[in-house]
Amino acid sequence: MSFRATILTLYPDMFPGHLGLSLAGRALERGDASIEPVNIRDFATDKHRSVDDTPAGGGAGMVLKPDVLATAIDAVSPEGDMRPRLLMSPRGRPLTQARVRELAEGPGAVIVCGRFEGVDQRVIEARGLEEVSIGDYVLSGGEPAALILLDAVIRVLPGVMGNAASGTHESFETGMLEHPHYTRPQVFEGREIPAVLASGNHKAVDEWRAAESLKLTRARRPDLLAGQSAKEARGKPPPQLQGEQILLRPAREQDVADRLALGRDREIVQMFGSELAENDSYSRSEAERFIDGLRQHPHAWVIEHEGRFLGEIRLDDIDRQHRRARLAVGLFDPGKLGQGLGREAIMLVLKHAFAKMRLHRVDLRVLSYNTRAIRCYQACGFREEGRERQAALVGGKWHDDVIMGILAPEFRAA
Ligand code: ADE
Repeated sequence: MSFRATILTLYPDMFPGHLGLSLAGRALERGDASIEPVNIRDFATDKHRSVDDTPAGGGAGMVLKPDVLATAIDAVSPEGDMRPRLLMSPRGRPLTQARVRELAEGPGAVIVCGRFEGVDQRVIEARGLEEVSIGDYVLSGGEPAALILLDAVIRVLPGVMGNAASGTHESFETGMLEHPHYTRPQVFEGREIPAVLASGNHKAVDEWRAAESLKLTRARRPDLLAGQSAKEARGKPPPQLQGEQILLRPAREQDVADRLALGRDREIVQMFGSELAENDSYSRSEAERFIDGLRQHPHAWVIEHEGRFLGEIRLDDIDRQHRRARLAVGLFDPGKLGQGLGREAIMLVLKHAFAKMRLHRVDLRVLSYNTRAIRCYQACGFREEGRERQAALVGGKWHDDVIMGILAPEFRAA
């Protein structure tokens, strides 16, 4: 599969730029990747072909118009296009090697290059744009940032780097900066190559490199080491669980766009005991926080259906001593309710909880008026164990929480 990048820009001539040369140039020639620049101005509708306007509320600079950009995005990325939509912006989340690898494993990307002061927030939300920054400095436009992102992605595509092993020991791949390198001559301006590198002792060489790498990372990028211990503390992500119609897998950054696109449905929100205010839209930062929360949770899965994020399922409050946990599940697309997808997800997680984690008991809470969910839990083998009276105030009325549970032998017998 080839990686297909479509770039929305006001400066299509900036592409492919340096990517037409060297390693990336050969990858483009072979067709391992393609870069198609598209001029946003082609989608302007007025006689001046204007693409920007003054900022609402006043202030300096100009803002890219939402209607023009939305039309351009829809033209290059119609419904069904599985490529993530990125917006290069200094406000974005910092690009990481992990995100680069993730992008390289996918079908490509639609990349919007901002100019001027920025892009109208509504098109960012309406088209699910993932804002990506390449560093804490401001460029005059997103084009060089897009070129850098594509450079990083193309070089890790299968078959692009000659020596497949090169890459996996590099800076960031291991969570650390890489050790220093040396080559002939043996003495350069009075400086010698460290003796261990000429010793022929591979174990000693590896140890020396690891120690140098750690020393350098400590000195220059202590944040990477802090990140690593956070990752270690988080432990292994939960394993992928494959069902017939769904896949349960750890959350990834790309899920933010799908979560954002699903937004907040009034009825679904009510089933979780909340209420939607008028015009209460679901923002990108809420979607980011939601997905980050899943990524940091040791037993949270994304429910993927037809290749897209559909919901979440978690085992919360795991108590190893008493071998119990609390189940929470949410599907966010009202059009996908009632098709047995939630039930399939719950059965997969229960099987994992009882067979692999050796839990004895899984329980949950559900609002008494959420009869659809209660029926689903019953079908999975949960029994009502009691009620917490008037536990939630929704729509000006008090409602009970139903407590339901299932034990390992009950699950096995079913
Ligand atoms: N556009 C302007 N500055 C940028 C940055 N630092 N990263 C990504 N896009 C940008």
